[in-house]
Amino acid sequence: MIPTTLANFVVHLLHFWRYDWPAQAVVTPANDNPILNFELRHQHAVSSTARVVFADVPAAQIYTHRDGRTPYQVQTRRIITHRPSSFCEYTEARMRSIRQAQSQILLWGDSEVIGPDVESRETLLGLAKMTNNAYVEPEDPYWYDLGDDWPEHYPFGWEPDADGFRGYVFATPDNSTVILSIKGTSTIVGGGGPTKKKDKLNDNLLFSCCCASVDWTWSTVCGCHRGGWKCDQDCVEEALVEESLFYPIGTNLYNNLTYMYPDSNIWLTGHSLGGGLASLLGMTFGVPVVAFETSGDKLAAERLHLPSPPSTNHITHVYHTADPIPQGVCTGVFSTCALGGYALETRCHMGKTIVYDTVSNLSWSVDVRTHPILTVIEKVLSEPWAPSVEIGREVPEATAEEDCVECYSWEFGDFPK
Ligand SMILES: *[C@@H]1O[C@H](CO)[C@@H](O)[C@H](O)[C@H]1NC(C)=O
Ligand SMILES: *[C@@H]1O[C@H](CO)[C@@H](O)[C@H](O)[C@H]1NC(C)=O
Ligand SMILES: *[C@@H]1O[C@H](CO)[C@@H](O)[C@H](O)[C@H]1NC(C)=O
Repeated sequence: MIPTTLANFVVHLLHFWRYDWPAQAVVTPANDNPILNFELRHQHAVSSTARVVFADVPAAQIYTHRDGRTPYQVQTRRIITHRPSSFCEYTEARMRSIRQAQSQILLWGDSEVIGPDVESRETLLGLAKMTNNAYVEPEDPYWYDLGDDWPEHYPFGWEPDADGFRGYVFATPDNSTVILSIKGTSTIVGGGGPTKKKDKLNDNLLFSCCCASVDWTWSTVCGCHRGGWKCDQDCVEEALVEESLFYPIGTNLYNNLTYMYPDSNIWLTGHSLGGGLASLLGMTFGVPVVAFETSGDKLAAERLHLPSPPSTNHITHVYHTADPIPQGVCTGVFSTCALGGYALETRCHMGKTIVYDTVSNLSWSVDVRTHPILTVIEKVLSEPWAPSVEIGREVPEATAEEDCVECYSWEFGDFPK
């Protein structure tokens, strides 16, 4: 059960949501798989009152080159996605599951859409760059260098107090495809920034086994740990639904975007926590997702009671083996993650996963300092990947994580206080 106030809040939000799915760019057999050029259009953030805000990128700073190229080129392919007939119906099914522990049969419709070709290295690289830019302000030295061909960029209207999610919206010049990029946790390794505190709370709720109970010295983010390795199942689910505004803010963000681009084909991308959110939203709205270096998102989807579509193959995770975070191994009292106040313990991903074995193939050691997207861009994706090239591929094969077991040392059940 969730408190009435929260239920009211959700219903209140629902009131504003669009009740029908936007028309999607349906692929006709005549089209082949085009290469799409994306330009930066807007930045998005969440205001202190949990409203989604957008800022437009002035036309003079949209990075389209004279010949029509942009630094973000992406190859496409057709993919099948699944979506329920309306968001309202989806939310009803979800609420019924939360309140009455009942699952409701949802009718899912299939549609064929243009999605990113995740077998293309340049495509993964382009999408990774879009999530990198989402980390920083344009005048920041870490704004990814787009090369000498591109015009100078300038800061544009940023809300200095904005907290929580941040990121960018990219679009093709004809608006046929729009990409929402969502920033991740910027601060596991040093650093700071205004979104740090909220990111941490949400990471700990979404990606830990039991309220981030690393040991007894930790003040956990919810009180569901019952000693030893026992965790009260209902309690953790309630905590997620109550404390984490990230999913509702995410659905709000998505709905706002479809309001701005009602006829566009939408894709989602993100890094770390942003990737996890992109994946949860991609599951909800049935749109293509590419997520980088994300902790396991399967458990969060279950705990949020997201109705599951017939397949999540439109979601692709990309990570490398020297990064402990997507593998759920940055755990334990003395781990870098615990020292930084994070409990990132989940390792099972939805959809398909592309794993770069940087440990075997590049002799990297497992180290959380390899987690940043810049490492992925510069050291993993920027050059042809030899182990794949040897077998005639551009990138490692995407596979489903069969038989992945989550939080195996924990016992979940009905353990009242
Ligand atoms: C694309 O969308 C933007 C709004 O972000 C609008 O200003 C522009 O006119 C649209 N372009 C086309 C070709 O529809
Ligand atoms: C975004 O969504 C919220 C709540 O759903 C709504 O109040 C707001 O007007 C929307 N903004 C835009 C620009 O669509
Ligand atoms: C990459 O690592 C795999 C084992 O994970 C090994 O089979 C393969 O030969 C390696 N390839 C290269 C080029 O190092």
